[in-house]
Amino acid sequence: MISSGASAALMDAANEDGPVSTSVPASVLGVGVDAPATLGMFWGIGVGPGPAGYLPLAALDALARADIIYAPRARGVDASVALRCLDGIEIAAHKLRDIEFNMDPDRSVLSAHYAQLADSIADELKAGCNVAYLTIGDSLTYSTYGYVLAALRARLPGLPQRTFPGITSYAAAASALSWPLGEGKERVLILPCPETSEELRREIETHDIVVLMKIGPRLDWVLALLRVMEIDHLCAFARRIGLPGELLCDGVGDMVAEQAMGYLATMLVRRHPRKER
Ligand SMILES: C[S@@+](CC[C@H](N)C(=O)[O-])C[C@H]1O[C@@H](n2cnc3c(N)ncnc32)[C@H](O)[C@@H]1O
Repeated sequence: MISSGASAALMDAANEDGPVSTSVPASVLGVGVDAPATLGMFWGIGVGPGPAGYLPLAALDALARADIIYAPRARGVDASVALRCLDGIEIAAHKLRDIEFNMDPDRSVLSAHYAQLADSIADELKAGCNVAYLTIGDSLTYSTYGYVLAALRARLPGLPQRTFPGITSYAAAASALSWPLGEGKERVLILPCPETSEELRREIETHDIVVLMKIGPRLDWVLALLRVMEIDHLCAFARRIGLPGELLCDGVGDMVAEQAMGYLATMLVRRHPRKER
């Protein structure tokens, strides 16, 4: 159990007296609006990238009403990052379903994994349970939630569901570093890190700002490229925002790749200095 402040109070009230009423309209939650009486609601919840408290009010309300909460966890990692993002919110342990996430590059292995997961969730929905599925950052931005939702819809046409957006990693990175993501008519590109330095250079040269996600082991040549392009001082880097091991750098000229590397890392690239306004 985790608890603090108003959100914990909200969850406590939900546990004792059933769903709490907040100012969130039922139509936003989908409750009693489009749900056939026999099926539970399915909610996709973006919990933000790490800092506690980055959860929209509607998603908090849905969490309080959920009977079952799926918390994906990357294979080989002890704790679900999605659950860490909910620090300060009390969730009864019996509601939690830990799912180890399989990122196998083999598509048939992946689809078998999603099929199995969707079968279990569909059974719970058919039993009338309200099910929430957590994702880090935003629910539909480079997230496995989209695959789960598609697999569920294929099994339960007319599935009553709502997806709540979350704060993306790059929005949180920009805020943590006070780094504007786009001003005036600046063109912003969001992309998973390409495989080669040449591809990345092309993308940087054709945009004003590039948000680079999924950098992984490519960080050393990414940093080398930014230095060669003489824009390293204009760029910013955020690793594990709001989580243990957080690293925030405004200007990446002095960064050492081996020390900064990590799966949860985002680079904000700017091609020209900010315009005076
Ligand atoms: C599978 S994607 C998930 C994206 C997420 N749905 C979002 O809205 O940001 C994983 C990538 O998100 C970024 N990311 C997620 N959490 C982060 C964090 N706490 N700090 C920095 N980057 C993060 C990294 O670029 C990472 O490689």
